Amino acid sequence: MLEINDLHVSVGDRQILKGLNLKVAAGEVAAIMGPNGTGKSTLSYVIAGREGYSITRGEILLNGVNLLNLPPHLRAANGVFLAFQYPVEIPGVACMQFLKAAMNAQRRSRGEDEINTPEFMKQVREESEKLKINNEMLRRPLNSGFSGGEKKRMEILQMALLQPKLSILDETDSGLDIDALKTVSEGVNSLRRPDRAFLIITHYQRLLDYIKPDTVHVMAQGRIQKSGGAELALELEKHGYQDYISNEAA
Ligand SMILES: Nc1ncnc2c1ncn2[C@@H]1O[C@H](COP(=O)(O)OP(=O)(O)OP(=O)(O)O)[C@@H](O)[C@H]1O
Ligand SMILES: [Mg+2]
Repeated sequence: MLEINDLHVSVGDRQILKGLNLKVAAGEVAAIMGPNGTGKSTLSYVIAGREGYSITRGEILLNGVNLLNLPPHLRAANGVFLAFQYPVEIPGVACMQFLKAAMNAQRRSRGEDEINTPEFMKQVREESEKLKINNEMLRRPLNSGFSGGEKKRMEILQMALLQPKLSILDETDSGLDIDALKTVSEGVNSLRRPDRAFLIITHYQRLLDYIKPDTVHVMAQGRIQKSGGAELALELEKHGYQDYISNEAA
């Protein structure tokens, strides 16, 4: 489903991704782990199409379509979703308004009709209940003054409503209390489907106790250095990243 070949990315004159290769099959949950500053968030931004990165080589194929040829909104319409490591606050826009606009923007890009209000309200009610997001929160401006954990749950609500093909979760577990971690994990698990893939960026095995990954990839120095099954995360927990970092400057 997702195939990344020889991806080279730089910001200014600094090279961050240095020939990254990664394949994620449909239905797969792939975890990416790696030291701070190694390019994990950069990878997520480049897949989603954030500006400011120059892609000097390589391709990112989603079901055979090279995402690098598409503007960000068409990548979203093609089913790419990114839950940010640091969700942005949008003070002037209420959550409900934002969610509806996001759903309709994708529908329009796909040539579909806009969602009607009763159907929208029904979906929001169902999904927000699962994530324990109350009405008061939904009426507030997006993420404005939300606690860290509330922001992360709001990201998962967006994902549940948009029903993406490829969901990238960048450290969605950071800042979640134990109950919220379970709630968010259940939200993710309930979205697992044979035609949907997840890229889960995390530093901790704890999340992977709740969301069982099919594959685990170690990223260091701008590349995937090793891929394996769920046991690889346990190994990292014990030994850290020393085996994957060479002495050469990153
Ligand atoms: N816009 C930018 N300008 C300069 N350097 C940048 C920019 N964006 C990213 N970098 C650098 O690229 C490197 C990779 O950053 P990135 O955020 O992708 O790391 P990460 O693997 O997600 O780390 P963490 O685990 O701490 O979240 C860092 O050294 C960072 O300082
Ligand atoms: Mg990061």
